[in-house]
Amino acid sequence: MHGKKKSGNTKATMAHIKVKTQKEIELIRSAGALAAETLIRAGEMCKPGVSTLEIDEFIGNFTKKNGGISACMGYHGYPRYACISLNEVICHGIPDAQTILKDGDILNIDITTILSGYHGDTSAMFLVGNVKPEVKELVATAKLCMEEGIKAAGLPGARFSDIGNAIQPIADEHGFSVVEDYCGHGIGRGFHEEPTVLHFANNEHTPLIEVGNVFTIEPMINMGKPGTRTLKDGWTAVSCDGSLSAQWEHTMVRTKSGIDILTLPR
Ligand code: MF3
Ligand code: CO
Ligand code: CO
Repeated sequence: MHGKKKSGNTKATMAHIKVKTQKEIELIRSAGALAAETLIRAGEMCKPGVSTLEIDEFIGNFTKKNGGISACMGYHGYPRYACISLNEVICHGIPDAQTILKDGDILNIDITTILSGYHGDTSAMFLVGNVKPEVKELVATAKLCMEEGIKAAGLPGARFSDIGNAIQPIADEHGFSVVEDYCGHGIGRGFHEEPTVLHFANNEHTPLIEVGNVFTIEPMINMGKPGTRTLKDGWTAVSCDGSLSAQWEHTMVRTKSGIDILTLPR
């Protein structure tokens, strides 16, 4: 999931990567635009004293008002409209009334919206009040990792393995680590489709990225060790060493000339 949980044999499944039609791509773009517009507004709510539940309620309401469905709600039993992951939470943080934003927090808001049967999946980091310089560096580095992964995916002859191979050295340079337990994914009618997109250096002979493949890149970068642990709620993934974690995500399509990001506001 989401960071779709890494599954066993990535090679065997690689034959099933769908090529989307232009019509499908435009439907994913519409879903992605609504997700992106919702994300911007949710981000504006990130002030000290606000609970993650209030932000989640906004996300659910805004999505519905605009004709969309929040894909996370009920997905494998997930209980809220979006994932909101604070500080040492890597991903799949469950919004609740007790989690109140405070000065110095960093958080990821991850929104997946369904419109006309197609999914758009995007996330971003938000800073609450005054955040320490080294923490800002983590957030900026995670964004750079996503951007360089996207660039690598857009090069002529790019393979899925090129994404992680572009991301890893950036995290390494800063002394940060790349989470390996959660990955990007194909997306379309399904929330999580083939392939699994690895964000760390790998030699798997993953296939060429074909024109019309639609997928996410969503690296999770930890300040300390890359290991993860799931809390008793069965969802919240935290860094094993309690270190801070940052993530950014876009949904995109491979085109003849590069990458077209599908989760941008209109
Ligand atoms: N949006 C996440 C992703 O990027 C998936 C969250 S699944 C949920 O793939 F059930 F936790 F919401
Ligand atoms: Co995703
Ligand atoms: Co997501």
